[in-house]
Amino acid sequence: MKNNVKLFLLLGDPVEGTLSPAIHNSAFRTLGLNNIYVPVKVQLDNLPEIVEAIRNLKVAGFNVTVPHKVSIIGLLDKLDESASSVQAVNTVVNRGGKLVGYNTDGEGALQNIQSKIGPVKNKRVVILGAGGAARAIAYSMAKAGADVTVANRTPARGKALAAIIRKRLRKKIALTPLRKPALKKSISSADILINATTVGMEPKPNETLVTADMLHPKLVVNDIVYKPMRTKLLKEAERAGAKTIDGLGMLVNQAAISFKIWTRSEPPVKVMSSAARKTLGG
Ligand code: ATR
Repeated sequence: MKNNVKLFLLLGDPVEGTLSPAIHNSAFRTLGLNNIYVPVKVQLDNLPEIVEAIRNLKVAGFNVTVPHKVSIIGLLDKLDESASSVQAVNTVVNRGGKLVGYNTDGEGALQNIQSKIGPVKNKRVVILGAGGAARAIAYSMAKAGADVTVANRTPARGKALAAIIRKRLRKKIALTPLRKPALKKSISSADILINATTVGMEPKPNETLVTADMLHPKLVVNDIVYKPMRTKLLKEAERAGAKTIDGLGMLVNQAAISFKIWTRSEPPVKVMSSAARKTLGG
């Protein structure tokens, strides 16, 4: 490697099939930056030693994905508000030896939806899920002024999410069971439905938590799952006459925000998006 090459990593397990290297390396190339982005499979037990190696090797920054988004927190020096608010990190920058954690998932999801349908302020949003991704999305939506309802399989996690938002934003979010009559009722008065669970992801592309009979034509349906791009939920939404937004936009937007944190350069979003699409084979 040349001396001035900056190294960026993705830490996760699994990392096979990730689109992030294609997205970031295409952006580095486009801007003529002498940087490289490499995925590294890291098991939970090895995370501390990998972070130690990152410090020693002066790695410039890294992404964190499943299952490390929460465990990484204790190994960092500082958290940005985007990460401390939802207690999950997906992006780390090395600032002169100090590792600072950010979360760009929520902002990425918000930017993607707003770029397609305009401001979410005062929109009624139902979010399925209360895991790391759902927490970040619910927080960004509530912060942007949306009226958020969360439905999660495990009610305690839904309650924990509501408590975070109440504490941080002084905003109340509603909780609804992930069961048909109650969920259908919440969706009937909603403007936007977001699936922030892993349901429908390959290798189980025929699963969905919500079917066409629970949807309506004025609804916008966004699935954060991007493998497959046209999920079962999005097919059900089309059947109901709803507008659909696939998961690739959020992936690209969160990557673009991370890219800006790392490089302080304006991300070439179109290049990043077509690299992601090409790698997916779409
Ligand atoms: P991520 O960081 O990608 O959000 P996660 O924290 O493991 O991953 O969260 C996964 C989310 O998908 C959770 O909301 C989970 O529900 P539980 O909190 O009840 O576990 C949800 N999920 C996964 N499989 C599901 C299924 N078969 N039915 C309903 N919800 C499911």
